[in-house]
Amino acid sequence: MCYNQPGIKRKGDLVLEKFVINGGKKLHGTLQISGAKNAAVAIIPAALLVEGVVTIENVPDVSDVRILIDIISEMGAKITRLGRNSFTIDSTEIKSCEPPYKMVSKLRASYYLLGALLGRFKHAVVALPGGCDFGNRPIDQHEKGFRSLGADVKIKKGAVYVKANEIKGAHIYFDNVSVGSTINIMIAATRAKGTTVIENAAKEPHIVDVANFLNAMGANIKGAGTDVIRIRGVDSLKGGHTYSLIPDQIETGTYMIAAAATGGDVTITGIIPKHMESLTAKLIEMNVGIEEGGDYIRVFGKGKMRGATVKTQPYPGFPTDLQPQIATLLCLADGVSTVYEKVWDTRFQYIVELNRMGAKIKADGNTAIIDGPSTLSGAPVRSNDLRAGAALVIAGLVAEGVTQIYNVRFIDRGYEDIEAKLRDLGADIQRVSYDTEE
Ligand code: EPZ
Repeated sequence: MCYNQPGIKRKGDLVLEKFVINGGKKLHGTLQISGAKNAAVAIIPAALLVEGVVTIENVPDVSDVRILIDIISEMGAKITRLGRNSFTIDSTEIKSCEPPYKMVSKLRASYYLLGALLGRFKHAVVALPGGCDFGNRPIDQHEKGFRSLGADVKIKKGAVYVKANEIKGAHIYFDNVSVGSTINIMIAATRAKGTTVIENAAKEPHIVDVANFLNAMGANIKGAGTDVIRIRGVDSLKGGHTYSLIPDQIETGTYMIAAAATGGDVTITGIIPKHMESLTAKLIEMNVGIEEGGDYIRVFGKGKMRGATVKTQPYPGFPTDLQPQIATLLCLADGVSTVYEKVWDTRFQYIVELNRMGAKIKADGNTAIIDGPSTLSGAPVRSNDLRAGAALVIAGLVAEGVTQIYNVRFIDRGYEDIEAKLRDLGADIQRVSYDTEE
């Protein structure tokens, strides 16, 4: 059964929708976090390496995942849905190594199809990735890795062509720390002849999750989560296994910041507190209340917040995917704060929208200076990427009056049921569809 039935209205992508938030309500209660989106969008393509049936659980029901499921269905994978957050993938009979251009170009993570198809079939043609727009998003390190494994890589007509007679283990030193390149080469090298060593690897939690998934299917990967990963190639990966995804680090962080911003008291459960350390430390520094347990974090307001300096970095540094959200929180804190965006070139476009709501932020290159505290007031604003959208939702929750957030489809890429989860915590947020561009 196709996971996604054509013609059926789905949240955020076939209709124009906005969030309407009546701000000023403190968030209170308990919240369960979904599975990690960025693990899901790597593990689903990685399942193409498996000749057999795999069951994947705790998959977030977000539009990026739905698009990927549609793409691999088109390629011949059989998807059987077991529930909203779990399904089986049978990749025994893949009929095409050229996933549909239009579908693929919508999604950044589609580059993982290259690693998976190269690893199993030794060739692939995959459209250059799309995804959230925050400037130049090169794939030269992916290309370098594939070439090291013995593949010929060409970019033409908007697509990446990879082809090899044989995938051979290699020693690869990445020029910069890249999540996608690390995962892609790990996936492709799983079925290489011999051993691959990736140096200067990224260490994000979902890299470990992808390695654990592949190992559960019979791969031999060691060192994921450190900056040297060793992959001894195996002849095949076998199905018959069930794998459950880790909780979403960025979704967790987004709700932690939302709780702090509203001065509420929220316990976020089903998480791995270790993954949150850079944020937890920053919130404590800002005078936000934190209580941690084995699989939960409670975040509560303690009164005035202090400004801080935030520098985004690869894991275990402060995640770039929480940068717009923490910047929103810093607008509410006393004093001057500084945010250095060290991962992406242009990830400050949302600032103009926050300033429309009363924030005082000046951006210069990769640095933003925030003059706080500001009293935010509701306004019509537009999200231009997933995390910027989440930041505007947080701003709307705090603002006096009504905030309307357009381009909800970006937020739907990575947050399952964001409005329902927030409503359960006491927020006044509605998803409203409209017929023409407002
Ligand atoms: C992943 O993107 C995430 N996406 C991003 O999250 C996240 O912002 C990013 O990692 C950094 O944590 C997915 O996992 C699907 P990178 P990715 O390769 O893999 C440079 C979200 O909101 N670079 O780690 O594409 C690049 O320009 C999304 O969920 C090269 O120079 O990021 C950037 O400066 C948005 N050459 C840095 O490395 C390359 O070949 C990190 O990029 C690849 C990357």
